[in-house]
Amino acid sequence: MNGPNLNLLGRREPSVYGNRTFSDFFEELKKKYDSEVELFFFQSNHEGALIDKLHEVGFSFDGIVFNAGAYTHTSIAIQDAIKAIETPVIEVHISNVFAREEMRHHSFLSPVVKGVLCGFGLQGYELAIKSLL
Ligand code: DQA
Repeated sequence: MNGPNLNLLGRREPSVYGNRTFSDFFEELKKKYDSEVELFFFQSNHEGALIDKLHEVGFSFDGIVFNAGAYTHTSIAIQDAIKAIETPVIEVHISNVFAREEMRHHSFLSPVVKGVLCGFGLQGYELAIKSLL
């Protein structure tokens, strides 16, 4: 799952987030892990839509890899949603948020997720999938 502004990956601040689109990366991931796991992707710029999706899949899926974008640093509602569901969530950030502005150092999600990966670029999503597998 990807949160706000991550639909612009490939075009958004390429020096921070790289120049690859997420759909291109995701197609490659799906092929690579095809025999092991079924992968689904959801992106929204809207907090409520992300919460609705957590509720929808969070009692049946085996794992959720979630980059909540800037909602990471602001959303008590997403923290509550992660607490409310049963599926383990791995928090991912493409950039190393701790090497950036102080406002990005705090995460409302980290205390309630299974683990956190940040600073590994898009590879972080794959590492999270591997850890769930
Ligand atoms: C991000 C880091 C956040 O601070 C930022 O708001 C994002 C992307 C990352 O993947 O590095 O939108 O989650």
